[in-house]
Amino acid sequence: MKSVIRGTGSYLPEKILTNFDLEKMVETSDAWIRERTGIQCRHIADKEEYTSTLAIHAAKEALKNAHLTGEDIDLIILATTTPDDTTPATAVRVQEAIGMTHGFAFDIQAACSGFMYALNVANQFILNKSIKTALVIGAETLSRIVDWKDRNTCVLFGDGAGAAVISASTEEDGEAGILDIVLHSDGRFRNLLTTTGGVSRTQTTGYVLMEGREVFRHAVMNLTDVAEEVLNRTHTDKNTVDFLVPHQANVRIIEGTAKKLNIPMERVIVTLTEHGNTSAASIPLALHHGIASGKLKKGHLILLDAMGGGFTWAGALIRL
Ligand code: ACO
Repeated sequence: MKSVIRGTGSYLPEKILTNFDLEKMVETSDAWIRERTGIQCRHIADKEEYTSTLAIHAAKEALKNAHLTGEDIDLIILATTTPDDTTPATAVRVQEAIGMTHGFAFDIQAACSGFMYALNVANQFILNKSIKTALVIGAETLSRIVDWKDRNTCVLFGDGAGAAVISASTEEDGEAGILDIVLHSDGRFRNLLTTTGGVSRTQTTGYVLMEGREVFRHAVMNLTDVAEEVLNRTHTDKNTVDFLVPHQANVRIIEGTAKKLNIPMERVIVTLTEHGNTSAASIPLALHHGIASGKLKKGHLILLDAMGGGFTWAGALIRL
């Protein structure tokens, strides 16, 4: 038995902030941002839009595409660094909004790897037969914790959400399903990508703080290593991978990783151009885009990998 992806969804707020808009806010240029990151614009949540608002949109689309309703869901795991409230979990707002009155819902915080962590936890609940169907969400309003005066970080991040419904495989699913997920973290690097504060330490949320060059170096290394680890664990030849769906942080990180893995860019899903780094929402946004655009098809073998603050990093191999 495996967990199979039944439907995906995503949501990006309407308001768009382009590189040209940023030129008016900090000492930067469209050329610098595009050349160094590949990002052209990012979406910014409206004042009245919260992480839960974005998550609910993405969740409803994923449910629709899975031909399911809230009552069919036993578990919601929502990965976020930017919850609506300190407590309760943003996931319970989604639970209420989709009309799910049984089961349970909770949040996970693993920065940009959050969705992969959530997917693995949900997968375990399915494999040990505690539940049948889970809704896994990555959702962020990073614009709320970005220092809009810091050009080192404000050009990189955006708001968004992505979701996937997964459930236990049946005979009809054939080879489809999550074949493996590997999670890693190493707290020795926690200060390289952090915030200036937090609930317990400063009683504030703080702003994103990052050692860009160091993060970049570790990202290419860890993303390549974890992808190879997953391929080795599953005895998979990398040439049989149809698509790489990487964390959408920086196109140079993606190109560097794809090159090391010997996967041509035609077989890599890149969406960051349109929404920048949306942290936990990044992988499900890219996954949904790949499926909705028809690039990712039933039967395809896809490799997912993510890396973020902590450091946390993760890889997964999935047969659609
Ligand atoms: N506009 C113009 N100039 C800038 C900007 C900006 N927005 N930001 C920094 N600079 C300047 C720097 O101050 C520096 O100037 P200096 O040489 O006078 O000191 C110069 O540009 C070059 O800076 P570098 O840090 O060497 O630039 P680099 O090529 O490394 O690119 C970047 C910076 C884009 C942040 C890169 O390091 C990066 O992408 N790192 C990974 C960051 C990331 O993706 N983090 C997200 C979370 S982790 C993850 O998701 C993997």
